Amino acid sequence: MSDTELNRGLEGVTVAETRLSRVDGEAGELVIGGFPVAELATRASYEETLHLLLEDRLPSATELAAFRADLADRRIVGDEVHAVLGRAAAEDRPAMDALRMGAAAANLGTDAGGDEADARRIVAVFPTIVAAYWRYRQGREPVAPRSDLGHTANYLHMLTGEQPSEAAVRGLETYLNTVIDHGLNASTFTARAVVSTESDLVSAATAAVGSLKGPLHGGAPGPVLDALREVHESGDPEGYVRAKLDAGERLMGFGHRVYRVRDPRAAVLSTAAERFYDTAGDADFFAAAKAYEEVAVDLLAEHKPDRKLATNVEFYTAALLHGIGVPQPLFTATFAVARAGGWMAHALEQKSNNRLVRPVGRYVGETGRSWTPVDER
Ligand code: ACO
Repeated sequence: MSDTELNRGLEGVTVAETRLSRVDGEAGELVIGGFPVAELATRASYEETLHLLLEDRLPSATELAAFRADLADRRIVGDEVHAVLGRAAAEDRPAMDALRMGAAAANLGTDAGGDEADARRIVAVFPTIVAAYWRYRQGREPVAPRSDLGHTANYLHMLTGEQPSEAAVRGLETYLNTVIDHGLNASTFTARAVVSTESDLVSAATAAVGSLKGPLHGGAPGPVLDALREVHESGDPEGYVRAKLDAGERLMGFGHRVYRVRDPRAAVLSTAAERFYDTAGDADFFAAAKAYEEVAVDLLAEHKPDRKLATNVEFYTAALLHGIGVPQPLFTATFAVARAGGWMAHALEQKSNNRLVRPVGRYVGETGRSWTPVDER
């Protein structure tokens, strides 16, 4: 590629081969480890999906039991990490900052087990870190992980100290599976770029957390919930959307770099949320969310006729996580809990067929300057 071809944001540039997931932005299709997202997300446990990504096949019953037990064994974090999380909570730092700090120390106190061990450890401790931080923020003691619970149920248990309902576990499991991997999004690319220097997986995970934090990537569902609450209260989605667009603001939960149709993950999560709200949630709130989506899509088409702006994954993420009872300040960190599996699988894949990531920038600065001593400037 010559230096004259500028690809801002690497849009449309293929930089790696991956067997992990395929995103078809025109057709609105997502395949994870060979399965259409809807089929996998609604049936698998998170451990099964993670095994699929790491090993390229679903586990047998025996393998699954061993894999679950191995992950459960890696859940506990040391006192040093608790001290950092307690401090982050006391200083009211966002959950993603706490997760970044906790992730950086994830393999402290463990035997150096190599990349595979680091990958499993990262995935296993993310829920522990997020939940402990949250408990500290509530002025409460963290809840110890329970090794008899699966990854998803244990996360909910550590957040609340209670046995989660089956509906909440299924809803969250569907969410975690749905967003575990999604091509070379910014945070996944970040993870791959880090290990491409032959750095380690904990560094990759820490950098990826930083990348996911931004509102253009993983930071959207919190503001989406604000919008859902506002339109539910006012009953005037049109007024809300027009006011936002007139103010030149973006509507969170809509638009995507790759999808030009409705994000297939929005469909999976909308169905999961509907199921949850019908049986265990505030059905009126969910009805308001659906009505808002319809109005927003219509008005976005009016606002930007040349750019198809459809519902993205974050819209129903907000509705579903809120319904299940995941606190709003933890939405992005819960996304990281899910995506950690994808990051680690990509980091291992990158390592197995590595090429140092090193794009070029087009220089647009001055040339031919000559040095002036400081007392003459
Ligand atoms: N609301 C209003 N206008 C929008 C929106 C939106 N949600 N999204 C894009 N646009 C407009 C832009 O203002 C831009 O208009 P302009 O050409 O007049 O400046 C045009 O559509 C094209 O937008 P881009 O920024 O070029 O699109 P890009 O591919 O870079 O953006 C993105 C994708 C960042 C997701 C964008 O749609 C957005 O900001 N959405 C809201 C935030 C959000 O929901 N993020 C979560 C994404 S999903 C995920 O990462 C897991």
